[in-house]
Amino acid sequence: MSKIELIKVKDYNELSEVAGKIMLELVKEKPACTLGLATGSSPIGLYQYLIKAYNNKEVSFKEVKTFNLDEYCDLPVSHPESYYSFMHTNLFNHIDINEGNVHIPSSVGGDLEKNCADYSAALNAATVDMQLLGIGANGHIGFNEPGTSFESETLIVTLKEKTRQDNARFFDNDINQVPTHAITMGIKNIMNAKSVLLVASGKNKADAINKLMNGPITEDFPASALQNHKGKVIVVADEEACSLL
Ligand code: GLP
Repeated sequence: MSKIELIKVKDYNELSEVAGKIMLELVKEKPACTLGLATGSSPIGLYQYLIKAYNNKEVSFKEVKTFNLDEYCDLPVSHPESYYSFMHTNLFNHIDINEGNVHIPSSVGGDLEKNCADYSAALNAATVDMQLLGIGANGHIGFNEPGTSFESETLIVTLKEKTRQDNARFFDNDINQVPTHAITMGIKNIMNAKSVLLVASGKNKADAINKLMNGPITEDFPASALQNHKGKVIVVADEEACSLL
């Protein structure tokens, strides 16, 4: 039995509100908290919820530090689909976050191994209070694809065909435009967070949510590592994502 707490919600709107509220409460309670942030379509509504709370003057992000999970390789940061652009478009440009407190893995420069080591060092020097995650249909978290060691720290990965197909919708539905590699926090980095908030919506995630909640703990399904997490793991999933439970 996993200790993962599952909050079942009706649809994407409710998911965004329920998960958004959980993150908002943390920032209100601890204004200088450190958040691990994620990209993908799943957290967009949660980010909108945070922006709304900021606009209503309920919260400030001035002292919040953030660490993003991952970034594509071979995509300039200025590309609209870089995760740097994604985070600024969907969250950072709309709140009072201090750009100096924002950390996003960088795939720029000639020494990517050094970028990985630097990112892990920064993460290890911090304590992530809450790590937000989406989940790939194949169980990937961040860009840790099936087969990644649970001991991994920030690393360069080769994206699976399935992940590139799933993400082709952001690249004119053309898989050839989807980068083949990415830099991602490792599973060990993710597990070091004090708590984890995972959001999942839609039928495409139903199998992954079932395996996350009920499957064996195996490196073939990276998200299953969360079953061994020492802190709180909350999964907020909508009816479709829960349809195989
Ligand atoms: C990408 C990201 C993951 C994300 C996953 C699911 O591959 N690297 O961090 O969780 O996609 O994305 P979506 O929420 O769009 O389904």
